Amino acid sequence: MRIDILTLFPEVCRAPLSESMMKRAQECGALELHIHNLRDWTTDKHHVVDDAPFGGGQGMVMKPEPIFAAVESLRKENSRVVLMTPQGRTLTQTLAGEFSAQQHLIIISGHYEGVDHRVHEHLADAEISIGDYVLTNGAIAAVVFVDAVARLLPGVLGHERSAADDSFSEGLLEGPHYTRPAEFRGWNVPEILLSGNHAAIAAWRKEQALQRTRENRPDLLRGDSSSLSS
Ligand code: ADE
Repeated sequence: MRIDILTLFPEVCRAPLSESMMKRAQECGALELHIHNLRDWTTDKHHVVDDAPFGGGQGMVMKPEPIFAAVESLRKENSRVVLMTPQGRTLTQTLAGEFSAQQHLIIISGHYEGVDHRVHEHLADAEISIGDYVLTNGAIAAVVFVDAVARLLPGVLGHERSAADDSFSEGLLEGPHYTRPAEFRGWNVPEILLSGNHAAIAAWRKEQALQRTRENRPDLLRGDSSSLSS
């Protein structure tokens, strides 16, 4: 999969997407990532990317021209253009899975008060929010989105770890994990995990997953969460 990120802050995206699993995703060829500075598509001397809102109001709005120019220079027939915005559909594991099946994503990360609405209306194929809160920098949202999508690409997690075990993959949060030492400050690892009885361990994990979901995310069990809908 190829992903192009358009942002005013390439450095904000670069570090988190060049470490660990995202590094591996690129090294193994699953992900071809390009991070661009939107200012490169400005045509004026001062590389202006924002302006005051028509009708008045606080803050600045990102101008449409560099965003359209950037997307139009990168877009191919199979590209999907994703605008990161708090007004978008909330990102879920299901949605991340759907996007991971695409061949090419062009991600626009907003900044300031937002982007000119003509970008929403006439350029973006999807508007995605990473949650019901507002960040100052949409590049952070783009990083979250890319990480969630790219880790689902074949070969990225490796054979030792499957996305099928993730929280949300079966509509539940994941159960607890423990490692050595078996006793730490008097707190013992649950006996069953040391038993070697794999069927019993699997049943225990399922029950624990249910319990954690009941405690922390009862909305998932009621099926009324937007987190699992697509
Ligand atoms: N930009 C600012 N806040 C955001 C959010 N919650 N999701 C996506 N983009 C954003």
